[in-house]
Amino acid sequence: MKVDVLLGLQWGDEGKGKIVDVLAPQYDVVARFQGGPNAGHTLEFDGIKHVLHQIPSGIFRDTTKNIIGNGVVLDPIVFRTEIDKLQKYNLNVKSNLFISKKATLIVPTHRLLDQAYEKAKGENKIGSTLKGIGPSYQDKIGRQGLRVGDVLSSQFKERFQKLIDIHFEILKKHDVVFDWAPLEQQFMEAIEFLKQFNLIDSEYFINNEIKKGSSILAEGAQGSLLDIDFGSYPFVTSSNTVTAGACTGLGVAPKNIGEVYGIFKAYSTRVGSGPFPTELLDEQGERMRKQGNEFGSTTGRPRRCGWIDLPSLKYSIMINGVTQLLMMKADVLNIFPTIKICTQYKLSNGTITETVPYELVHEKIEPIYTEVKGWHTSLEGITEHKMPKELLDYITLLEKELGVPITLLSTGPDRTQTIHRKIK
Ligand code: GDP
Ligand code: IMO
Ligand code: MG
Repeated sequence: MKVDVLLGLQWGDEGKGKIVDVLAPQYDVVARFQGGPNAGHTLEFDGIKHVLHQIPSGIFRDTTKNIIGNGVVLDPIVFRTEIDKLQKYNLNVKSNLFISKKATLIVPTHRLLDQAYEKAKGENKIGSTLKGIGPSYQDKIGRQGLRVGDVLSSQFKERFQKLIDIHFEILKKHDVVFDWAPLEQQFMEAIEFLKQFNLIDSEYFINNEIKKGSSILAEGAQGSLLDIDFGSYPFVTSSNTVTAGACTGLGVAPKNIGEVYGIFKAYSTRVGSGPFPTELLDEQGERMRKQGNEFGSTTGRPRRCGWIDLPSLKYSIMINGVTQLLMMKADVLNIFPTIKICTQYKLSNGTITETVPYELVHEKIEPIYTEVKGWHTSLEGITEHKMPKELLDYITLLEKELGVPITLLSTGPDRTQTIHRKIK
């Protein structure tokens, strides 16, 4: 069978964790293909909220195999903490989790470098989660990084020392002072812990699963507008968050990609710096943040909030080849009597466009809105066939504009607050 891909179409935090968990019973395998502990994927069921950073969101389903792919950057310390938190749920983590030997390791100096680089950027800081993502991908691309498979080598300690010696030099230039011994000890203990898991050649593993006819879901992290190539560079993350990233991040050939689920919020949010054309800096934005509980799952930072942005969504749909749309957090818009939809941008020279301009980062972009009537009522208990007319109108308008069916609607954080819609 083909590999289906689920990924965010905005700036992350669209609700990927919830939906991967909802869809996981339909899949034999769930695989993360990029990103690392910058991700915070929330799952909610049986009254408990779980946030996963490194571990794929299929882990709570008994029979689902979970892969951390070669495109991921893995922090063994975060990984260990996350596994420890899962202990009390008696999951089959040891047998259901597989980690690519080709995944890149995040070492403690990567986190220190992340902080140093952000500080040096001053006002132009990215607003990174400071989890060491940029520096670890830099080492990967610079061909000096350490990989998960290296932990099995008798020369691991020497290789580690060689890498951190390079980092120490840079940190010295940035005047960063730190106590190295406890960081190193914690890291080495986490490496020993990591060795107990299935460290595999995940590209063979996943291709064997494809051959066997297993169903596979690739779980994206971050969002398409944070992609290293297509996002609002330099205010992006350091990996390819788009569908193509699933091919390189897992070793899956493009011809083996099946459905592409594009997930988006009924409005927009962004954490960290960078352009956000529809951002609401007024009381409405504040209400949206409060209603949507828009605070980062990884850093706790307040998320910037704004109306839905169709030019950006169309761009993401184009780059990803989205075949189905999943709309999240419709319930957050319950509080608004009217809802705005950005359909075009007006550039500073007066040009009106539906495309995302290259100058996005430096241009003052003015959103052009259509305003529609909101449903302005609770969505509790609604079904595919019984929902407020204004909500159905909103969905229909988006489907028409975006040219892709919305096959799932989410109206709350819990697994059960999910409505599947049939493609007509
Ligand atoms: P992810 O990074 O894409 O997995 O998303 P996050 O977990 O960072 O952020 C999504 C947040 O919205 C989490 O707190 C979810 O529990 C919550 N959430 C998901 N779907 C819905 C929904 O339909 N309605 C509401 N109100 N909250 C939701
Ligand atoms: P999930 O998977 C939202 C943002 C950061 C910052 C920029 C670069 O939960 O959707 P990085 O730590 O990668 O150097 O940060 O990207 N960012 C995210 N925003 N959701 C995420 O992940 C994010 N991961 C990174 O806030 O602006
Ligand atoms: Mg998140």
